[in-house]
Amino acid sequence: MNLESLPTNGISGKVICPGDKSISQRILIIGSLLNCDIKISGFLDAKDPNSTMMALNNLGSSIKKDNKIVSISHRSKPFSNPSSFLDLGNSGTGIRLLTGFISGLNIKATLVGDDSLSKRPMSRVVDPLTLMGKEISTNSGKAPIQIKGGNIKDNFEYVMPIASAQVKSCLMLASLSSGNSIKITESKVTRDHTERMIEYLDGSIEISESSQGKTILLKNSELSEISTYEVVGDFSSAAFIIVATLISKNSEVLIKNVGLNKTRSGLLEILLKMNANIEIINKRKICNEDCGDIIVKSSKLLGINIPSNIIPNIIDEIPILSIAASFAEGQTTIKNASELKVKESDRLHATSMGLKAMNIMHDLLDDGLIITGTQDDLKSVKEIESFGDHRIAMSFLIAGLRSKNGVKVKDCINIETSFPNFSKIMNNLGMNINA
Ligand code: S3P
Repeated sequence: MNLESLPTNGISGKVICPGDKSISQRILIIGSLLNCDIKISGFLDAKDPNSTMMALNNLGSSIKKDNKIVSISHRSKPFSNPSSFLDLGNSGTGIRLLTGFISGLNIKATLVGDDSLSKRPMSRVVDPLTLMGKEISTNSGKAPIQIKGGNIKDNFEYVMPIASAQVKSCLMLASLSSGNSIKITESKVTRDHTERMIEYLDGSIEISESSQGKTILLKNSELSEISTYEVVGDFSSAAFIIVATLISKNSEVLIKNVGLNKTRSGLLEILLKMNANIEIINKRKICNEDCGDIIVKSSKLLGINIPSNIIPNIIDEIPILSIAASFAEGQTTIKNASELKVKESDRLHATSMGLKAMNIMHDLLDDGLIITGTQDDLKSVKEIESFGDHRIAMSFLIAGLRSKNGVKVKDCINIETSFPNFSKIMNNLGMNINA
């Protein structure tokens, strides 16, 4: 599915932020483990959480979607070997978190994914799980992941070699589902939704921070049952609306119910340094996650050097940050971001190719990008390749707002993995995105 984004006279209005993808997936997994009746509101009804839901049902969970509410029901039987391969589609979070969760349950399963997921590195979860006692085989470090046997060790200690919330969560879930304790140290702080959810459920989790980074001590303990859970809005989806408003003229948008977890919302800090007009109101806490409403107005952005310690907290927002940088005065430098090469696409290469098609001056580095912004609207943009990556597709569609004749992006179908109503929501605010 190719999409075209035509220029408009600015955007305005009010929108409710779609549910958080990372939290939607975690509550399905941890909620299934709790084994009680739970009604989940605010769930992100998109392909990634849905493939995680189907995989869990194949293991014996009883999860149903009914209109806007997702219900997890009490299981009368234990989890069991699935009847078929578990297909996690495009979802790195789905395959990596479930590999940990299943490893702790002592069942056998094979996890597969689509072409993009089958190219992504899985040794980062399989290696520590093997050290923890599991027998797992892969296709040279890639999916399919075959979980064959072995038992998770108690009191395992792991120092994270890379900044990855998926790896950290995989290992925590393996410990949680096997009833063992674990100590994990991360030198760079990554998103902490798993820790917050366990804390919310009264699990025994101690977190300490030092010059070495953050240490998480998760002890085997009973989690408390809950009957409801509310998923906050996805900051990563809000990021597209925020940047769209900032770069277009005469625009003002209110985004309601946005997740503002510090380990996720680094882009706000960056944009404020870039002179963005953003205000947060109605700050509150929902199910142990920070949340608020965001008012954004058109802004004259300035290029900056992005501090490298914030990279893990803006990792999914770098493609859309590159669009903000494209229309900022001066240079924006992004370094220490080589993890972007192993996302749904090589996002450094994909972003660079898109910027080239838009004639935006930039340097592609081995671990980042240096982008020189323009004040002008884009002239004669060549067709942009999304590389089947949802965040690349949405980022360049947003750039259409600042084009003279529109921006065409190829292969946008995977927008459905994270933000199924993207075109509808953006068009309601005044954009003009069409097939
Ligand atoms: C996610 C963690 C991040 C992020 C991904 C979702 C999660 O990946 O890029 O979209 O839900 O834990 P890494 O932890 O691999 O950096």
